[in-house]
Amino acid sequence: MTDKVVTFVGAGPGNPKLITLLGKEKLEEADLVIYAGSLVNPVVVDYCKGEKVDSYGLTLEDISKRIADALEEGKKVVRLHSGDPSLYGNVVEQMGELKKYGVTVERVPGVSSVFATAAALNTQLTLNGVSDTLIITRPAGKTLEEDKLKELSRHNATMAVFLGTQKIEEIMEKVEYSDDTPVAVVFHASWPDQKIIYGTVSDIAQKVKDEGIIRSAMILIGGVVDPIDYRRSHLYGVAQEPL
Ligand SMILES: C[S@@+](CC[C@H](N)C(=O)[O-])C[C@H]1O[C@@H](n2cnc3c(N)ncnc32)[C@H](O)[C@@H]1O
Repeated sequence: MTDKVVTFVGAGPGNPKLITLLGKEKLEEADLVIYAGSLVNPVVVDYCKGEKVDSYGLTLEDISKRIADALEEGKKVVRLHSGDPSLYGNVVEQMGELKKYGVTVERVPGVSSVFATAAALNTQLTLNGVSDTLIITRPAGKTLEEDKLKELSRHNATMAVFLGTQKIEEIMEKVEYSDDTPVAVVFHASWPDQKIIYGTVSDIAQKVKDEGIIRSAMILIGGVVDPIDYRRSHLYGVAQEPL
């Protein structure tokens, strides 16, 4: 039996140049790409000259069968995820299903939207004297019964909330940061229509509503959004042991 391997590629956050060289190479070589809907820039999908299939509306079983059949025919297949596939990408579930067909997965990481958000805001996610910790989370929704927003917010760390735009009001009510904690919402980070909305825990929900943003945005909460009281890290000009 020949090795049947599908490549899972991170497409990056939107800007078609924010894919890795290896990811682009894999797409160019592919006979079939199955991409994850609207968050993947069509320009990136078009790096593949073969067949292109939007996975929107397809079941896990449909996708796996499609991949397995194409590999059986000797085709090269890429499964393209937005950002990095390891964040809210159902990679492990897909791997489990593909295993039934004897298909294994190789991975090419991508630039997650959380990093494109930090770049858009020109800030750090961890910043000396402000927060050394980044919490990545999401609100409860279709695929998550209960979230941990309340408990997690008690750490007073930087918090990046994925999949939360429509629930921003509930999120801000739930979290236990002080009302004046800075919050930024970045819609379509790195896309040409990128939009940034700044506010605080107490007023960001209304601002986002006023702008009519209901999806495809990252919510970043914490002092790093408006960094004033940070400490110099003493990294510069001081001889350091390698970390
Ligand atoms: C299913 S998750 C996929 C995340 C992706 N794997 C990543 O690493 O960015 C979709 C959520 O990611 C966030 N997202 C994805 N692309 C984004 C972008 N360009 N700008 C802001 N948020 C984005 C939004 O919160 C969106 O609801």
